[in-house]
Amino acid sequence: MDSYYDFMILAEERFSVRSFTDEPVLDDVVSRILHSGHVAPTACNLQPQRIYVLQSEEALAKLKNCTPCHFNAPLAMLVCVDMEDCWVRPFDGQLSGFMDGSIVATHMMLQAAAEGVGCTWVMHFDPEMAAEEFDIPENVVPVCLLVMGYASEDAMPAPGHLRTRPIQETVFRL
Ligand SMILES: Cc1cc2nc3c(=O)[nH]c(=O)nc-3n(C[C@H](O)[C@H](O)[C@H](O)COP(=O)(O)O)c2cc1C
Repeated sequence: MDSYYDFMILAEERFSVRSFTDEPVLDDVVSRILHSGHVAPTACNLQPQRIYVLQSEEALAKLKNCTPCHFNAPLAMLVCVDMEDCWVRPFDGQLSGFMDGSIVATHMMLQAAAEGVGCTWVMHFDPEMAAEEFDIPENVVPVCLLVMGYASEDAMPAPGHLRTRPIQETVFRL
């Protein structure tokens, strides 16, 4: 089995986990997930990501004020970017921050899957509330939340997981 094949299986088999056990994710595993985010590509390698690891009881309680999509997970990562520290496209002033943050989060989500840690990418949270609860500076903007933990026995892919559009609708070979 070569590594391309391994990656395809990982990409195909991962699904959003929304039901977790209470088992904490070990520090080593958390560190490897963070490492994969740390080595992710960002525009000009500026690394504007700022990641808040939420795992204390206090932080997880605050998270519940920010989103209904916490799924009682024992761990969450709030992936933010410093909008004053990201690349600016000279043609139109477009900032790279949201792209950078999304790539970092994707690396972390896939590393979590490789570690057997369930994860859901969450956009449905109140960014202002998050900034307040976690004391995030004004120039640092939340991009997404990754809720994580070990999947409970009843965790199943949601029906949307298998709803894949025909590839011809999404890929145009010119
Ligand atoms: C940008 C983005 C935002 C998402 N926001 C949420 C969310 O707020 N709540 C949630 O339960 N799932 C959220 N998801 C998970 C998607 O619903 C899920 O990835 C999609 O339905 C495909 O299912 P799968 O991850 O099981 O393959 C989000 C995913 C992405 C990429």
